[in-house]
Amino acid sequence: MERIHITDVSPRDGLQNQQVHVSTDGKLELISMLAAAGLQSVETTSFVSPKAVPQMADAGDLVPRVNAALPALRTSVLVPNLKGLERAHAAGAQEIAVVLSATETMNQKNINMSLAQATEVSEQTLAAAIAMGLRTRAYVAVAFDCPFEGETPLAAVLRLSERMQRAGAGEIVIADTIGSASPGQVKERLTAIARVVPVAQLAVHFHDTRGMGVANAWAALEAGVRRFDASVGGIGGCPFAPGAAGNVATEDLVLMAERSGFATGISLAGLLAAIDFAEAQLRRPLGGRAITWLQRQREKQQLMPSVEAPAAAAPPVH
Ligand code: COA
Ligand code: ZN
Repeated sequence: MERIHITDVSPRDGLQNQQVHVSTDGKLELISMLAAAGLQSVETTSFVSPKAVPQMADAGDLVPRVNAALPALRTSVLVPNLKGLERAHAAGAQEIAVVLSATETMNQKNINMSLAQATEVSEQTLAAAIAMGLRTRAYVAVAFDCPFEGETPLAAVLRLSERMQRAGAGEIVIADTIGSASPGQVKERLTAIARVVPVAQLAVHFHDTRGMGVANAWAALEAGVRRFDASVGGIGGCPFAPGAAGNVATEDLVLMAERSGFATGISLAGLLAAIDFAEAQLRRPLGGRAITWLQRQREKQQLMPSVEAPAAAAPPVH
């Protein structure tokens, strides 16, 4: 069975805009539960200004604790600049992700830089990270639409993806930051991007704002992409509109992929346990599109056998 690779970004993308601040202990527990569910890759935090994102202020404490507790887990951290890289390196981070938006205004709003500045800073940060021996990812954010400028020109996405790849980024993450993409557009854009960046290096990052996250993931699969970001329980977005603008839910993506003949190595039961924990932490209901059905299957002890067992205990796949 062909395998897809999922990076759970809930501890960073999910928790960065929650009203309830999760403690460092709580984050470590969530990450441990993701690892126990079979996730091999987790974006754990970001080294950004604590004034901009107070929820991530404990990054320097969290990273060494995750490294000590979960040495086998692949973890990455988001860094917007060289200062973030230095802090991440000092904390023992092994992989970093730079964040470059494909429009002028989004870079200004997110990291207070022009597009040209942000491109240069991302290149410098990647070069420095590679010199430190770190693995790297580069987000190309607002790759479909920008909340300030409307539809993002494909030419800009192509140019920036290529520049990030030339700068040595191991993975180029095409991000639908506001969750406005639709499957036809995803297939068209990714097919074009795959002509300038090897498809094996491409990852996609969808938000489920309009309920198209899973359909978009399928379109990306059809375009040859095998690397996906997702967030357990769809954590993220506006706390007053549950599920409105979080990432595509990891459990939805796993269900879709496994039912469509792709192996994920991830246990749905394990994800549901992580969602229970995150709900208690955030004190509100969580979950993507399939959560009600999945919880009913759990009650009946009928979660799909192919994904029921954690990766380590999974039978060989033929
Ligand atoms: N981590 C922590 N502090 C940082 C930092 C980092 N990566 N980069 C800069 N700072 C500090 C500076 O040391 C300075 O501190 P001081 O006021 O105590 O002297 C202060 O932040 C301002 O520095 P400056 O370089 O002028 O940054 P800025 O005000 O232009 O902000 C960013 C730029 C990138 C730091 C800020 O916009 C940011 O953190 N954005 C992240 C947004 C985000 O996480 N978005 C969601 C993920 S895509
Ligand atoms: Zn995101």
